[in-house]
Amino acid sequence: MEETRYDLIILGASGFTGKYVVKEALRFLSHPPLRTLALAGRNANKLTQTLQWASHPNPPPSIPILTFDTSDPQSLLSLCAQTRLVLNCVGPFRLYGEPVVAACVETGCDYLDICGEPEFMERMEAKYGEKAAETGSLIVSACGFDSVPAELGLMFNSRQWVDPAVPNRVEAYVSLESERRIVGNFGTFESAVLGVANADSLQALRRSRPRRARPVIPGPAPPKGGPLIEHQKKIGLRAVKLPSADSIVVRRTLTALTENPHGLPGVNEGVEQIEKRKAFWSTVKPAHFGVKIGAKSMLGVYRFITVGMCIGLLGKTGFGRWLLLTFPSFFSIGWFRKKGPSEDEVRSASFKMWFVGQGFSNSSLISEGNMKPDMEIITRVMGPEIGYLATPIILLQCALIVLSQRDNLPKGGVLPPGIVFGPTDLQERLQENGISFDVISKGALSS
Ligand SMILES: NC(=O)c1ccc[n+]([C@@H]2O[C@H](COP(=O)([O-])OP(=O)(O)OC[C@H]3O[C@@H](n4cnc5c(N)ncnc54)[C@H](OP(=O)(O)O)[C@@H]3O)[C@@H](O)[C@H]2O)c1
Repeated sequence: MEETRYDLIILGASGFTGKYVVKEALRFLSHPPLRTLALAGRNANKLTQTLQWASHPNPPPSIPILTFDTSDPQSLLSLCAQTRLVLNCVGPFRLYGEPVVAACVETGCDYLDICGEPEFMERMEAKYGEKAAETGSLIVSACGFDSVPAELGLMFNSRQWVDPAVPNRVEAYVSLESERRIVGNFGTFESAVLGVANADSLQALRRSRPRRARPVIPGPAPPKGGPLIEHQKKIGLRAVKLPSADSIVVRRTLTALTENPHGLPGVNEGVEQIEKRKAFWSTVKPAHFGVKIGAKSMLGVYRFITVGMCIGLLGKTGFGRWLLLTFPSFFSIGWFRKKGPSEDEVRSASFKMWFVGQGFSNSSLISEGNMKPDMEIITRVMGPEIGYLATPIILLQCALIVLSQRDNLPKGGVLPPGIVFGPTDLQERLQENGISFDVISKGALSS
């Protein structure tokens, strides 16, 4: 087979997130498994400037700059034919993502992205899943803050429930912190607005597909409803439901696990790896999962509600979307800006994601008719700013795993990150790169 020219090509490298991904990639360049890297985008000058910015204060390394446009399938096929792996930072993915996935599947190269748009992910799975499995192209979306901390964080919590204890539900609480302001770039805002606009097509897509297995979770489903604002005293947060991609991505992983209780076999894994994979998945216990966003003060929570209502209501009509996308800063109370956060704002921000798991100290309690969880385990994932520090760290570590451990990963398919990277050393790698996983408390729940 002809040798591919690059280990990795970063698409959309000149975008706001893309340039931070380039900066992170340069930290690992020239050492195995990342020996060759190329940057790709629409504009060669912008890419050259990106490389200068990302390598500062060092002189820019000599890295090929390639041009493409998602509206030109031939340019994408040519890119994909030259690389083992594509990292896609071109969003909104519902507008620009499909031609990239199609070209990767066609040529059989692997693909990771930082998408947080459930409709795109599920549509790609429905449309390209089978062909990707045939051509040996591994397509994994949501390899950023959306949704790796949720995927690995749930697994980390669930693995603390040692037999005979079983989890029943895990609620994740995201808390964003900063000594300055928390600001996101317009690209993420636009993706969220388009997500609201197209919520109906996700429902229609699901209705058109065969039903898949549901995970078997011991004990009753958590009660629906409840107060709009929850006061989680143990972690000092007031929180509201966060309609992010996380719980949908986690559900896809739990579904894949239900259908494949030993996980997905690697394309060429050895006996030892098979045992390791099976042992890992035997310790992951499914649980009902939800995500909330929290703040220390009521004022903070009212701000989440206000922004959520603006996007939720205005995002449904054309004129409303025009308003949102023309005045992002106004309608997001300053959280999203057309020119994104400053480097200082990025550096001074961080996140904590608390996982409050409730379950049963002994699974036999359920068969004896006890329906109220009697045990609680709280864990936490913590790291730097979500969009432009944590996301590039996560994406790069996923990429390095694909490049160095390809034999242990599924041959191909369109899959969520948890089922692909769960049994690898991704959690350890994230810990080495500033994203920590901790057990905070384990104990009985007072009735
Ligand atoms: N998972 C997460 O937690 C996470 C975190 C951060 C961002 N994201 C997602 O990442 C995406 C990008 O966000 P961003 O803020 O970086 O946006 P951005 O600054 O607007 O970057 C978009 C990139 O896409 C490129 N692009 C646009 N149209 C294209 C086309 N037709 N052909 C080729 N390239 C094209 C742009 O090229 P030019 O440079 O030439 O304009 C730019 O490089 C969004 O969907 C966002 O939601 C996710």
